[in-house]
Amino acid sequence: MNRVLASLLRTKPLAALLEESAATRLKRALGVWDLIGLGIGAIIGAGIFATVGTAAAGDAARPGAGPGIILSFVLTAAVCGLAALCYAELAALVPISGSAYTYTYATLGELAGWIIGWDLIIEYAVGNVAVAISWSGYFCEMLRGVGIVLPPWLTTDLRTGLATPSIVAAAPHIGGVPIMMNLPAAAIVLLITWVLVIGVKESSRLNAIMVIMKLIVLAFFVVVGFKYVQPTNWKPFMPNGWHGIWAGAAIVFFAYIGFDAVSTAAEETRNPGRDLPRGIIGSLIISTFIYILVAAVVTGMVPWFDLHTAEPLTVAMNRYNLGWAAGIVAVGSVAAHTAVLLVFQLGQPRIFFSMARDGLLPQAFARVHPKYRTPHVTTILTGVLVAAFASFANIEEMVDLTNIGTLFAFALVSAGVIVLRRTHPEAKRPFSVPFVPWLPAVSVGACLFLAAGLPVVTWVRFAVWLAVGLTIYIFYGHKRSALNRPPAV
Ligand code: ALA
Repeated sequence: MNRVLASLLRTKPLAALLEESAATRLKRALGVWDLIGLGIGAIIGAGIFATVGTAAAGDAARPGAGPGIILSFVLTAAVCGLAALCYAELAALVPISGSAYTYTYATLGELAGWIIGWDLIIEYAVGNVAVAISWSGYFCEMLRGVGIVLPPWLTTDLRTGLATPSIVAAAPHIGGVPIMMNLPAAAIVLLITWVLVIGVKESSRLNAIMVIMKLIVLAFFVVVGFKYVQPTNWKPFMPNGWHGIWAGAAIVFFAYIGFDAVSTAAEETRNPGRDLPRGIIGSLIISTFIYILVAAVVTGMVPWFDLHTAEPLTVAMNRYNLGWAAGIVAVGSVAAHTAVLLVFQLGQPRIFFSMARDGLLPQAFARVHPKYRTPHVTTILTGVLVAAFASFANIEEMVDLTNIGTLFAFALVSAGVIVLRRTHPEAKRPFSVPFVPWLPAVSVGACLFLAAGLPVVTWVRFAVWLAVGLTIYIFYGHKRSALNRPPAV
C-alpha cells in the first residue's frame, strides 16, 4: 500500500527538469515585449467581447452584476494577480514549456501532475470551444455589415436559447429533428488546425499585428462610446448586491485566462528568469486596465439588463446607430478571437506532448510530422474535438467549465509554490513571491472562492471530468510513467 502511495506522490526531480530546460532544442528568441504580446494575444478575446454582456445582465439561473461588473473585473484581477505571482516564481524557477503540468509534477507528485495535465485540457480545449462560438457571433456580425446573412440554423444551435421557434421551423429536418449547428465556429477551428499542422506557425510578428489590432479597436470603442455614456445607466450600480458581483466575477474570470500561457514559451525565452515574471504580470496589468475602461463604457451606453447578448460591444454601437463603428469593432473582435484561438490551439498539443514524453499518454501523442515537423496527431485530435463541440455547444456552459478548470490549476500552482519552498529551499529563484506561505495560501483560497460562484452543474461536470481522467491514469499512465523506468547509467 505504501508503495502505491509513494508512486502516486513521486515527483519529477527538479534537477532533471532543469537539465531538460538547459538542453531545450527550441530557439530562444523571445524578449520581454514578445512575452507581453503573447500574453495579450492569449488574454483579450471572448471574455471582454462577449461574456461581459451576460455577466452584467445575468439570467434566470444567476444574478447579473449590473454596472458593478466593473468591480467584478477588479476582484478577478486581484485573484489573478495573486496566481500570476505564483506562476511567475515557478516559471522563472522551472522554465519548461509544460507550464502548470510540469510545476505540479515537480512539486505535488505524479497523481496531482496528471490531474493538472488532464485539467488543462479544459482550460485550453474547452476554452477554445467557447472562443470559437464567440468568434462566430462577431464574424456573422461582420458579414452582416457587408450584406451577407447566413441562415440562422447554420449559425446557432438548439441549446443556446437563441434558437427561436421560427429559426427551428426554418431549419431542415431529418426524421422530425431540426438540423442546426454553428458552422462558422467549427470552420474557424478546422482552418486554424490545418494552418498549425502544415506549420505556418503563428510568428511573433503575426501575433503582434493581431495584438495591435485588438488594442486599437478596444481603444476606439472606449473613445467613441464614451460620448454616448449616460450616467443614469450606472444606477443602481449593484442591482443584485455583492452576490451579483461575485457571480459576475466567476464569469469574467474567463477574460483573464491566458497570462499563464506565457509560461508555455519558457523554453523559447532568452532570459526566462527575468522576463517570464515581467511578461506574465505585465500582460495581466495592461489587460486589467483595458477591461475596466471597456466595462465602464459598455454599461454606461446600454442599460445592464439589455446586455444579455453574445456581442455586447456591437450591440452598444448599434443602439446609437453607429453601424460603421460596430463594423470596426466586429473586425477587431474577429482578429482578437483568432489570436486567442491560435495560442490555445498551439498550446494544447504542447501539453499533450510533455505528458507523452513523461509516459503518461501514448507515445503517438508525441509524434512529429515527418515533413512539417509539427505535432500533427495531437493538433488534429484537438482540432476535430474542439470543432465538434463548437458546432453544438452552449457558450455559457463552456465558459463556466473553462473557468472552474483553470481556477483549479491556479490553486494547485499556488500550492506548489509553498511545497517547493519547503522541499527545495536552496533552489535559485530568479523571482520570489513575497509573504510565503501567506500569499500563495490566500491565492488558493481566492481561486476556490471564485469557483464557488459557479453553478452546481459546473462543479458536477468538472467532477465527472476528473473522475474520467483518474480512471485513465489508474489503467494507463501510472503503469507507463517514465519514472517507472530505471535511470540510465
Ligand atoms: N481570455 C481569453 C478570452 O477571453 C480566453 O478569449
